[in-house]
Amino acid sequence: MITPSFRCRVALASALLAFSVQAAEPIKLGFFMSMTGRDASFGETSLRGAQLAVEEINAAGGVLGRPLALVIADNRSQAGESATAAKKLINRDNVVALIGECSSSRSLEAAPIAQTAGVPMVSPASTNPRVTEMGTCIFRMCFADPFQGDVLATYAYRRLGLRRAALLVDVSAPYSTGLAAAFQRTFVGLGGEVVARQQYTAGDKDFRAQLTALRPATPDLIFLPSYYVDIGLAAKQARELGIALPFVGGDGYEAPQFLEIGGTALNGTCYSTHFSAENDDPVVRSFLARFQTRHHLIPNGLAALTFDTVRLVADAITRAGSTEHAAVRTALAATRNFPGVTGRTTFDAQRNAVKEAAIMTVRDGRIVFVESIRP
Ligand code: PHE
Repeated sequence: MITPSFRCRVALASALLAFSVQAAEPIKLGFFMSMTGRDASFGETSLRGAQLAVEEINAAGGVLGRPLALVIADNRSQAGESATAAKKLINRDNVVALIGECSSSRSLEAAPIAQTAGVPMVSPASTNPRVTEMGTCIFRMCFADPFQGDVLATYAYRRLGLRRAALLVDVSAPYSTGLAAAFQRTFVGLGGEVVARQQYTAGDKDFRAQLTALRPATPDLIFLPSYYVDIGLAAKQARELGIALPFVGGDGYEAPQFLEIGGTALNGTCYSTHFSAENDDPVVRSFLARFQTRHHLIPNGLAALTFDTVRLVADAITRAGSTEHAAVRTALAATRNFPGVTGRTTFDAQRNAVKEAAIMTVRDGRIVFVESIRP
């Protein structure tokens, strides 16, 4: 029988547990992201997912009786800074694992440092295939671009009935060049044509010359594998030039600022992402409610992936029964069917997760979920 004194003792016991967990030395996870600069939205979004996971884990007793703590390192969205951040987190902060980056180019910078030091690194959202090819310590929580490009090309060709693609590629970003190549492979394989290709480099704000150059080839879509700022600006400039073609792109479009920058110029734009808040899976509904209570925002793919990443790293430490790098790496590599809000994670032999993609489209200035596509 549950008596008041029993309840009292349970409450006392959990208070003592919480107290001893808080008192124990924290397990440090290094979180390196673009907290400021051009891609600050990615860092902020990702951190929200990480914070919720850490707080929930700590409230439930922590990991191996110790609280988790995030050590945050900002790379300011700048080249070179992710390497610096990874070195600092590894050598100065002695983190158990690295969580980061979102952008493939920044993950590619940090990965060799993590690999050389033997420190496991899990990227929540970097989709370029090369990221996990950097070594046995590097994992990704998301699908990779050969799949993403295939999904987008198939959707554009079969569902939208489009046949003539123009490519606008950021040649300074492996994400952009890699996703463009993957899209082209499937699109051409299906019978479509790539009728024109233009390029730019990260940070460019004026796409008018490239858009004008694409026009004479009479494309029926513009494939722009970029991040949210570029697509917003390019879409606006296209409409000003009288180009009404739909834009198609990948997960890099997803940010709260996407619609703010592009507005109604984005109508008809399609992209793929890692998660839909419209999913009625009870696990997703519950996550949505907790995330909204904590952050007063609807989580997107990046927030959801980072939430899952922190929980998976905590789970791997528990399974390893140790915070030693090699043991945590081995436990991560053995991950099978880890349940998360972005689906189940099983790492293949190349340490890549296999996940479904959600297709989204912009209609009347709003983002609408279209469908989920399984690998
Ligand atoms: N997939 C992108 C890359 O590899 C990063 C990204 C993921 C951006 C999710 C936004 C949302 O560079």
